[in-house]
Amino acid sequence: MKIVVLGAGYVGLVSAACFAEFGTQVTCVDQSEEKIDALSKGRIPIFEPGLDDLVERNVRNGNLSFATSMVPAIHDADAVFIAVGTPTRRGDGHADLSYVYGAAREIAQNLSRYTVVVTKSTVPVGTGHEIARLIRETNPTAEFDVCSNPEFLREGSAINDFMRPDRVVIGCESDRAAAVMKALYRPLYLIETPMVIAGLETAELTKYAANAFLAAKITFINEIADLCEKVGADVQTVAKGMGLDGRIGRKFLHAGPGYGGSCFPKDTLALMRTSQDKGVPMRLVEATIDVNNRRKKHMASRIMAACGDVVKGKTIAILGVTFKPNTDDMRDSVSLDVIPALQEAGAVVRAYDPEGMDEAEKLLPGVIWCKDAYEAMHGADAAAILTEWNEFRALDPARMKAVLKSPVLVDLRNIYKPEDMRAAGFHYTSIGRA
Ligand code: UDX
Repeated sequence: MKIVVLGAGYVGLVSAACFAEFGTQVTCVDQSEEKIDALSKGRIPIFEPGLDDLVERNVRNGNLSFATSMVPAIHDADAVFIAVGTPTRRGDGHADLSYVYGAAREIAQNLSRYTVVVTKSTVPVGTGHEIARLIRETNPTAEFDVCSNPEFLREGSAINDFMRPDRVVIGCESDRAAAVMKALYRPLYLIETPMVIAGLETAELTKYAANAFLAAKITFINEIADLCEKVGADVQTVAKGMGLDGRIGRKFLHAGPGYGGSCFPKDTLALMRTSQDKGVPMRLVEATIDVNNRRKKHMASRIMAACGDVVKGKTIAILGVTFKPNTDDMRDSVSLDVIPALQEAGAVVRAYDPEGMDEAEKLLPGVIWCKDAYEAMHGADAAAILTEWNEFRALDPARMKAVLKSPVLVDLRNIYKPEDMRAAGFHYTSIGRA
């Protein structure tokens, strides 16, 4: 089978490489000449574990190629996947669909045989029908069906999430389109991956519902963590006790500084806007957004409190600035709230991140970027862990104390045990633990 994937970002590139790995002939298209040139030379513009090998292997065996135009590949493609960005529109929180609709129009102009047009990008409910209308309007003779095939990839484990998904969700309006999609996902079908086949709106809403629920679940445990601190409970044990209930599940119950990333903040906002447009209140989603935004902003005051509430003229070391480990993505990262607030209060901020510093230095002026955690902590009055990179899990307390001006550690990811750090002579604070 042959497909075209439009968009070589996190979702498009991973999807293109994984479909190629399935043996599908894939052309991945992006309008950025620079990005396509780099990819054609095997240089991957994003940090995603294993993606470079997967791309290199499939370019070499001829299953994967890159282009800046969907022509000519689209002429004999069984399906075209729209995996372009759907960022939050400035000002009103709606998803910006201009890239999606632009792709739909260009597809319409180039369709020459029955083709399935698949939205892989997360798009508001109803977008699939709008895409179909646009294509028909642009090319009344076009033979096509629109499908919704939302992705559930987590950055940092995107390849595994594609190759071994909990389920594949496919929204389509014809058996013919469903047959094409099942053929494309045949390798997953053969390992008995559950396939949820539904209508377009159902598939589109499933994606938002899943992400908003996960965001709410994280926000729930974060609020429980605040209560734990007041009643002397341990949030990690509460989470364990909750998560062993099969109806709740262990995952996404790690209390932290608040969620970030390119999806939860954007998708919760888009879902809330859709519900408002339809006059259906979704107060749980609204509260999740509000509580999470406030929490991220509040984290700086936790660090200040650990420094005796005055940070003017003090130096603070920040360990980890990406929104989560194993990615270089800075989108909506808690560091974008914490670091400016500390600088605003007069602190000098030193920081280190294994992968995110190239991105981060464009977004966080005035930070002293360091080559490792210990250099960041050199001469600092306090250190704070914002992202749970593995290399921060085995820092040597004695070496930390030797470089820190004062042994103050704020662990916003609960990497360490309070009793161990206090025994090592640290003033240690964390999330949801006495
Ligand atoms: C998320 C969804 O998990 C994925 O299914 C969807 O396709 C895209 O959005 P991603 O944003 O890449 O994936 O990362 P994820 O691992 O979900 O983490 C999102 C944020 O939640 C991160 O800031 C992370 O630190 C935070 N988080 C996650 C917690 O604070 N606690 C948790 O238990 C889990």
